[in-house]
Amino acid sequence: MASISSPNQNGKAYTYVDHAFDVVVVGAGGAGLRATLGMAEQGLKTACITKVFPTRSHTVAAQGGIAASLQNMTPDSWQWHLYDTVKGSDWLGDVDAMQYLAMEAPKAVYELEHYGVPFSRNEEGKIYQRPFGGHMQNYGEGPPVQRTCAVADRTGHAILHTLYGQSLRHNAEFFIEYFAIDLIMSADGRCTGVVAWNLDDGTIHRFSAKMVVLATGGYGRAYFSATSAHTCTGDGGGMAARAGLPLQDMEFVQFHPTGIYGSGCLITEGARGEGGYLVNSEGERFMERYAPSAKDLASRDVVSRCMTLEIREGRGVGKNKDHIYLHLDHLDPAVLHERLPGISESAKIFAGVDVTREPIPVLPTVHYNMGGVPTNFWGEVLNADGANPERIAPGLMAVGEAGCASVHGANRLGSNSLIDLVVFGRAAAIRAGEVIDRAAPVPELDKAACDRIIERFDRLRYADGGTPTAVLRDRMQRTMQEDAAVFRTQESLEAGCRRMKELWGEMADLKVTDRSLIWNSDLVETLELENLMANAITTVVSAEARKESRGAHAREDYKDGPLGGRDDVNWRKHTLAWVNEAGDVKLDYRPVHTDLIAPGIDPQKIAPKARVY
Ligand code: FUM
Repeated sequence: MASISSPNQNGKAYTYVDHAFDVVVVGAGGAGLRATLGMAEQGLKTACITKVFPTRSHTVAAQGGIAASLQNMTPDSWQWHLYDTVKGSDWLGDVDAMQYLAMEAPKAVYELEHYGVPFSRNEEGKIYQRPFGGHMQNYGEGPPVQRTCAVADRTGHAILHTLYGQSLRHNAEFFIEYFAIDLIMSADGRCTGVVAWNLDDGTIHRFSAKMVVLATGGYGRAYFSATSAHTCTGDGGGMAARAGLPLQDMEFVQFHPTGIYGSGCLITEGARGEGGYLVNSEGERFMERYAPSAKDLASRDVVSRCMTLEIREGRGVGKNKDHIYLHLDHLDPAVLHERLPGISESAKIFAGVDVTREPIPVLPTVHYNMGGVPTNFWGEVLNADGANPERIAPGLMAVGEAGCASVHGANRLGSNSLIDLVVFGRAAAIRAGEVIDRAAPVPELDKAACDRIIERFDRLRYADGGTPTAVLRDRMQRTMQEDAAVFRTQESLEAGCRRMKELWGEMADLKVTDRSLIWNSDLVETLELENLMANAITTVVSAEARKESRGAHAREDYKDGPLGGRDDVNWRKHTLAWVNEAGDVKLDYRPVHTDLIAPGIDPQKIAPKARVY
């Protein structure tokens, strides 16, 4: 039962509503809902707080599919899936997490099927699977494997609706259009709850919990052009950073090869999986030159870099020769209608293109954050440093794009995100069921900690400087776009660090115009900006420090040698980054996990080597 207390607490006119739960999940995308469902199924008293209606979470935009070695269309195995994920990660991913993902993936997909996800079907009536970039047969030798299970090109949409329905069926309680402000942390580093603002009536909700799960998604909106929804503002990373926890591997930001030129709207990799291809201004299928084996289905970081090189060398298309064409017009219109209806519509709306007749203008666009709040593969947050690399932050978990297990290392393979959401959302629920003491009382509400959280909220609500939130956000997005892009140099990264530090200082001059508590989007965007800034500044500082090229972190000043600039001797390690109130970033490192968790594959198969597609 919630208890309501009077206004004027601590001199502030806020109305408080207090709650006690076994588990509070923050975020209702694929990972948040899978965790919520898994917790509620076990009878844990579970709340899910979300700033948007669950089925509007960004997972709804996931198009192409979810990877699992079902073998419905081609031979496949979890061992091949593991190999591709290790290679895709450029040997930075943690082997235990990657093996768990590859082994559990088929089970997690069949569970989704049984929960009611309406997967597309092959001729035998089995789940339809398509090829996706970097997924190959025979330990990378090829040909491409059909591993990506799809619901046409609306896979995330279908998963989200199904998981929301199932969570309701198991009596999870939803707090919809509530903005999570900050974690309630005890002096000894335990998370005991979260404070949230009900956007609809202005009340402040103080949740005590035995376990809080951050499932808040990525921070794509730290960049100017992103496929991410405007809601992808790294709220979990911001809260964790303010709680004194590190963020891991933030330098690894994925650019998706095919964002629509201009709008950044996603055109699924499934389009190339179904036979689409990229051409330059000379009409050349240039990927054949760069990746003779996988061609247009090479890993995303590789394709994005090749497109950027083609444009730089004057072979871009369009009036300004600043983008590339994606052709689907050679495909049977019936196939486009059946398998790619969503992107056919997006291309029409956002590029004015009829995909049956014309190519789509595309450009690499920020799509995914490999970094996030560090966790083990059960989703438990790590309050790690170099001396204590596996230290757990009790009472706190992170899953999905908000977390860093690290299953994607330096670069994620397409369709490994949706499977990450459900495998690790489910793993977090399994682990919570083991570690939560059902007989114990929920931690008592720490009102002093809550007051400190509200003081920050109040400071932003009444911010009266000279810089509107939108102006500062725009400067941050342009800085990140220019200085921490597809290709990086020492010079660009140093400039990025300097500019981000200046922008951090400018947060003291923010101006919030709307003081109300009801649907105050000005204040929401200001809270989001603070979260974005914590993610952005740790990204650029971590990137400046990493003196090598690996996965999505492509440095032009480190590209020579047999591994193309990768330095496994000095840099096969995870970055940890802390940011303080002044915007100073401290770095440390922890080792990559290299041990398997189960037999079934020769470790030599996944030993580091040059990454060639
Ligand atoms: O291209 C896509 O459909 C995106 C999938 C993903 O990021 O996993």
